[in-house]
Amino acid sequence: MSEVRKIRLGALGSGRGSNILAILDNIRGGCLNAELAVVITDRRDSPLRASVAEQGIPVCYLDPNNFSDRNSYDLELVRILRENQVDLVILAGFMRLITRAFIDAFPLKIMNIHPSLLPAFPGLDVQKKALDYVVKFSGCTVHFVDEGMDTGPIIAQAVVPIEETDTPESLSARILREEHRLYSRVIELFAEGRLRVEGRGVYTDAK
Ligand code: GRF
Repeated sequence: MSEVRKIRLGALGSGRGSNILAILDNIRGGCLNAELAVVITDRRDSPLRASVAEQGIPVCYLDPNNFSDRNSYDLELVRILRENQVDLVILAGFMRLITRAFIDAFPLKIMNIHPSLLPAFPGLDVQKKALDYVVKFSGCTVHFVDEGMDTGPIIAQAVVPIEETDTPESLSARILREEHRLYSRVIELFAEGRLRVEGRGVYTDAK
């Protein structure tokens, strides 16, 4: 009997890469039925380059300065992802907006994780913004990616209550723990073919 092919992930990040490493841990621990095929970063100094390479995962640094515009950069991303037979693209702390050409190459196959309960607080420094606004709950969101900043259809969210003593750092740390759980869970649902998209709505089909 032939073995069912695992879905192949391509991960894009610009920073420390804790979400990508958590996903890799879950794969290796048998909690997530997927393969991390390739990691791509746009930052030469991104700590994730070394940490992912240490784990034996191919890492590619693609310098935006070598491209004349966003479109040609994204077309090279698409080429690398296709070369690695990626089924699902996962963004985690990837500090670039992606273009239509990239989205069309992977329709409803590009996800992002964001450390707020979207549509509240898109963009940067959102834990501080949540505290400044004195909201009572924050959390994280996994969504499909469109051309906007953190605007695509929401797949799943996890709620984190805010404490009066929270700082941006303490809140970020608690949200990050939820991010590490939520992203793998959503990838597993995708791998099982259980995510159904109708307009802006993303629904989870029963097993
Ligand atoms: C995470 O908080 C993620 O939600 C946001 O950027 C951060 C990336 O962290 N988009 P890491 O690089 O995965 O550690």
